[in-house]
Amino acid sequence: MEQLMRFYGRRKGKRLKNSRIELMEHLLPRIRVAMPAAGEKLSVSDLFESPMQQYWLEVGFGGGEHLAGQALCHPKVGFIGAEPFVNGVASLLAHLNGCTAGVVQETANLLVPERADNVRIFPDDVRLLFPFLPDASFDKIFVLYPDPWPKARHEERRFLTMPNLKEICRLLKKGGELRVATDVADYASWALDQIECSDLFVSKKEDIYVPPAEWISTRYEKKGIRAGRKPVYFIYEKK
Ligand SMILES: C[S@@+](CC[C@H](N)C(=O)[O-])C[C@H]1O[C@@H](n2cnc3c(N)ncnc32)[C@H](O)[C@@H]1O
Repeated sequence: MEQLMRFYGRRKGKRLKNSRIELMEHLLPRIRVAMPAAGEKLSVSDLFESPMQQYWLEVGFGGGEHLAGQALCHPKVGFIGAEPFVNGVASLLAHLNGCTAGVVQETANLLVPERADNVRIFPDDVRLLFPFLPDASFDKIFVLYPDPWPKARHEERRFLTMPNLKEICRLLKKGGELRVATDVADYASWALDQIECSDLFVSKKEDIYVPPAEWISTRYEKKGIRAGRKPVYFIYEKK
C-alpha cells in the first residue's frame, strides 16, 4: 500500500516569483481543501459558499490553464483541482487572479471580482483525498496528460490503474464523465486497455483525434503539439 501511495512526480520547481508567493500565502488558504481528519467525510458542496449546479474534479491540473478556463466558462460548476506540484498550484492561483503576467491584482481578497469563486484546490496527491470523498460526488472528472511513466517497470506509477479507475467510478454520479487526454501513443493504448478491462465505463467519443467541444488547451498540450506529438481525447461515461 505504502508503495502504491507514494507520489513519484516533482513537488517543487524553480523558486516562485514574489507575486506568486503572495498568492500562495493569501489566496490559497481561502480556497484550499484541507485534509480531513481520519474517519471524516468531505461534502464537496460544503466547500463552496453557495450550492453549485455540478461539481467537476481535475486530477493533476499542471499549470491550471484548463481548470481556470473551465471555471470561467462555467461559473455554476464547482471545481476541485488536485496538484502536488507547488509551482503548478501557484500558476493556477495566478490564472484565477488574472495575473499571469506577474502583476498581483490590487484587490482586497486577492481574487479578481469578475472571476467566479468556484474553484477549490487540494495541493497534494488526489489519492490522499479519495477515501474522504462520498460516492457520486462529481459530474465530471478530468485526467489530462497524466505522467506517462513509459518504462514497463514504472507501470504502477501511472495514474489510470485499476484501483484509481475504481475510485473515479465510485466518485462519479451515474452517467458522469471521465475525460482523458494524452499525447503518448503507448500510454493511450495502455490506458484504453485499463479502462475497457475495468468494465466500469462506456466510451462516448467517436473521433479520438478531435478535441471535445469548447476544448481549453494547456501550455503542456501546446508544447507537445509544437514538438510534433498528436493528442488523443477520450470521453467515458460511468456505466
Ligand atoms: C504531464 S502533467 C499535465 C498537467 C496538466 N494536466 C496539463 O494537461 O497541462 C501531469 C500532472 O499530473 C500531476 N499528478 C500526477 N500524479 C498526481 C496525483 N496522484 N494527484 C494529483 N496530481 C497528480 C503532476 O504533478 C503533473 O503536474
